[in-house]
Amino acid sequence: MQDVQAFDLVIFGGSGDLAMRKLLPALYYRHRDSADCSQSRIIGVARQEMERDEYLRLVEQSCRKFVPAGDFDEDAWRSFASHLYYYNLDATRPASYDHLGAMLQSPDTTRVFFLATAPDLFVTICSNLAASGLVTRESRVVLEKPLGHDVASSQQINAAVGAIFEEHQIFRIDHYLGKETVQNLLALRFGNALFEPLWNRANIRDVQITIAEQVGVERRGEFYERTGALRDMVQNHLLQLLCIVAMEPPSSIDPDAVRDEKLKVLRALKPLTGEDVAAHTVRGQYRAGAIDGKPVPGYLEEPGIAADSNTETFVAIRALLDNWRWSGVPFYLRTGKRMQDRLAEIVVNFRDLPHKILPSAPAGDRPANSLVIQLQPDEGVQLHMMAKTPGDEMRMSPVHLNLDFGETFKSRQWDAYERLLMDVIRGNLTLFMRRDELDAAWRWVEPILHAWQKSEDRPKPYTAGTWGPAASNTLVARDGHCWHEDI
Ligand code: BG6
Repeated sequence: MQDVQAFDLVIFGGSGDLAMRKLLPALYYRHRDSADCSQSRIIGVARQEMERDEYLRLVEQSCRKFVPAGDFDEDAWRSFASHLYYYNLDATRPASYDHLGAMLQSPDTTRVFFLATAPDLFVTICSNLAASGLVTRESRVVLEKPLGHDVASSQQINAAVGAIFEEHQIFRIDHYLGKETVQNLLALRFGNALFEPLWNRANIRDVQITIAEQVGVERRGEFYERTGALRDMVQNHLLQLLCIVAMEPPSSIDPDAVRDEKLKVLRALKPLTGEDVAAHTVRGQYRAGAIDGKPVPGYLEEPGIAADSNTETFVAIRALLDNWRWSGVPFYLRTGKRMQDRLAEIVVNFRDLPHKILPSAPAGDRPANSLVIQLQPDEGVQLHMMAKTPGDEMRMSPVHLNLDFGETFKSRQWDAYERLLMDVIRGNLTLFMRRDELDAAWRWVEPILHAWQKSEDRPKPYTAGTWGPAASNTLVARDGHCWHEDI
């Protein structure tokens, strides 16, 4: 892997959940495993008054919690800690930024400002950084999702940030693109001769993309009430996965070559408006139930949630792409909180056999061939096929070829943030969203939000610990299909 130059990484929201749970453990790993961070300064920035020692104690606690014990090395931690600083700052007060500059290395050093804060602070922070003369040619800004809450607010943020940073300095992060299997999907599609000739409407019956979570809204009730599953998961993670499955082969792996192709997919999404929204989407909200045998409260009983809330915690959508490759192929997108299992997977179901000559080749809705790309809980790819059952009869049974990357490569899987942070430092934008992509994603999602707002229907209830409302099964059953787990 290409080495990285010296850098300063400033994390706004440096004592927050994302920094503690993901960013700092990811940086610890990079420091432990390579020389990537040896010329670096990592500065956590937050509002709380705190001495550096206290901050180091907090970071150490979370690294010990989120890095498996076997991976936590005392010497590596001490060395990592010597690169860590804390700066107490009120992001809204320009004067607060004065001393931050003194903590940074020379202006020629790569500077990364990671905004792990609420999006309503993005513009304020960028303006204050610029006014304090901290934005150099070597600076980059990382924007966490959600970037706005509709087309207008995301355009406003993008315009204001774009007036300070050039597009090649802006890294809009979607951590799903940093997951190993998502990149493996690119490798599978564009590094093998086998799949690409089959990757079209003539051979593929439907595609199912599921991100199911067992957790509820946890301590993020207030945020979730304003956001809901469509904005939190579909507008970004699910649409990005759809892009990777559906895009044309880019001419190279260069950022714009890849992002141009993703943009074409987003623009080809058939708009869902008015009555189509009721017919092709399902929104749900969990009621009390049980996860792994333990009782859990319903969404309306969670802290910070309005008693009559209409916020959706589950979404299923039947999406279509208006282009030659995919015309008529349904892409079923589904995500939900408090679902039966934690599962993120992409299932590509191939068309049925044109003519069956062998008994029991495949029964019911089961297609003879599916490609299952698992992102969570384990990463891997399975190719489902039919084979002869042992014995003298010529009977067929489903079998699968299992590409288990953990087993094959026997190396630690990088966390998505680990890879994406290093990409930011190297200035590689391939796995980050361009402004026009984000805009196209919001343009597709917004009419759905409007139709839901206008509708008198409430989100459909589902019991925590299930696969969502029954209407989600009906959505796919209308095409004669069923969700992968029901096969
Ligand atoms: C985040 C959402 O973007 O992704 C969360 O805001 C969600 O609500 C999380 O829980 C899921 O990420 P992962 O990697 O745990 O599947």
